[in-house]
Amino acid sequence: MSNTKKSTRQGTQHAEHLGKILDESLKDIYWAENHLVKTLPKLSAAATDELLKEAFDAHLGQTREHVAIVEQVFKLLGKEASGKRCAAMAGLSEEALEVVEQHEAGAAKDAALIMSAQKAEHYEIAAYGSMVSFAIHLGREDVADLLTEVLS
Ligand SMILES: [Fe+2]
Ligand SMILES: [Fe+2]
Repeated sequence: MSNTKKSTRQGTQHAEHLGKILDESLKDIYWAENHLVKTLPKLSAAATDELLKEAFDAHLGQTREHVAIVEQVFKLLGKEASGKRCAAMAGLSEEALEVVEQHEAGAAKDAALIMSAQKAEHYEIAAYGSMVSFAIHLGREDVADLLTEVLS
């Protein structure tokens, strides 16, 4: 086999593998976003400061939009939207609920709630950022554009 053919085949295998990783990452983040939709109202209810409650409520609205965007991505890829349990978001959510349960209301608890929400946010930023790169690498600018919306 010529070197060109060999490298073309390797390129195809690489693309298929990366495509699989993108699919798995989408299922992971779809589960994670849906899980956040359930957790955020609990954080909002536990917050003392009115502005923080509003911030959590606004974040809930954004998270619902993210769910819808990921559903659009599944559609673009010709796949049924489905989630696979994200152990990281499950754990971050569990930790956030420990803060909710174990601390007395007040400014210190609010600070801890913000930290919990930021940890979840950073997981998302890492996941979407990489998924955008994968999509671009796979020549799916349409998918990359949609996923970029989540980051803006
Ligand atoms: Fe999100
Ligand atoms: Fe995950």
